[in-house]
Amino acid sequence: MKAVIAENYGGPEVFTIQNVAIPIPKSNEILIKIGATSVTRASGMMREGKPYFGRLFTGLTKPKSKTPGTDLAGVVTAIGASVTSFQVGDKVMAETGLNYGAYAEFICLPEDDLIIHQPENISPEEATGILDGASTALAFFTDQVKIKKGDKVLINGASGGIGTAAIQLAKNFGADVTAVCSSKNKALVKDIGADKVFDYTKKEFENSSDLFDVIFDTVGTLSYAKSKRNLKENGVYMTPVLSMSILLKMLFISPFSQKKLKFDATGMRKKELQMRDLIQIGKLLTANKLKTVIDKVYSLDQVQAAHTYVDTGRKRGNVILINV
Ligand SMILES: NC(=O)c1ccc[n+]([C@@H]2O[C@H](COP(=O)([O-])OP(=O)(O)OC[C@H]3O[C@@H](n4cnc5c(N)ncnc54)[C@H](OP(=O)(O)O)[C@@H]3O)[C@@H](O)[C@H]2O)c1
Repeated sequence: MKAVIAENYGGPEVFTIQNVAIPIPKSNEILIKIGATSVTRASGMMREGKPYFGRLFTGLTKPKSKTPGTDLAGVVTAIGASVTSFQVGDKVMAETGLNYGAYAEFICLPEDDLIIHQPENISPEEATGILDGASTALAFFTDQVKIKKGDKVLINGASGGIGTAAIQLAKNFGADVTAVCSSKNKALVKDIGADKVFDYTKKEFENSSDLFDVIFDTVGTLSYAKSKRNLKENGVYMTPVLSMSILLKMLFISPFSQKKLKFDATGMRKKELQMRDLIQIGKLLTANKLKTVIDKVYSLDQVQAAHTYVDTGRKRGNVILINV
């Protein structure tokens, strides 16, 4: 089968396409023919091996797993002797997280991994595309804050993978959502549910006196210090983008302030919590309450071009790789 291989950390040029053996499922595993996987911003950072402390989990000098890709949608083509939850022919969607392996034609996964049946009303591209953004946003909205009806939520980076999922999830919780994006993406974020939009190129957020219960800085371009003036008394600034400055503020400033700063590496939470969120995402997709914004679709062979594009930091929603 075809698989993307990265022997070293580096730019998109580290990827080669190679022929490797199709894996054989163990007793507790299912073999999935992968239809689509996605190119996330995080997968670019994993490819680079940056920030360096991430290498404690992905491999110190070179990637532990040579085939990248942290989410997928596909069809079960074989099952191990003890598998009971899936049958050959089932359409599934799965998160492989730091085990990687999704940039390939086939993958074997234990049946109790983060796998659900793919809702019938969506395509494999939509199924895989939503996973990174929705699972990250949902984790922040349920484990870091408990978003409730009427909360005022600001989402920065609203046109990105996490942002487009976060807008829709916050609306599902009944929140009042203000999105921050550039002029070209205003229509997109309104279309998926934002009640109000600030244009970051015109510093509309910085110049506003609106107060929020939650500021979710999905791309890490606002700062906790500057955001505090727009937080209500017990408001929370949270971001999925870790930096030394965020870490130090979390340890030494946030504990002594009523306005908290929160970070979470959502893919490293307990499996039960990740499964809870995956099931919830499946239900929202089935009910058409969550839609995947797809920017570009590339073939697996075009993996270098897809990563080069995502590295620009300009993608709108999600970028997909399909097996053709
Ligand atoms: N902690 C975790 O568990 C976790 C999990 C997943 C991802 N992450 C991290 O989360 C971050 C975001 O991921 P993502 O996939 O959502 O990113 P993304 O899709 O690549 O974000 C791109 C979007 O951000 C917008 N943007 C760029 N600069 C902006 C600014 N100054 N203000 C507002 N919007 C801006 C761009 O719009 P314009 O082109 O209009 O500027 C573009 O639409 C990444 O750093 C990723 O590594 C963390």
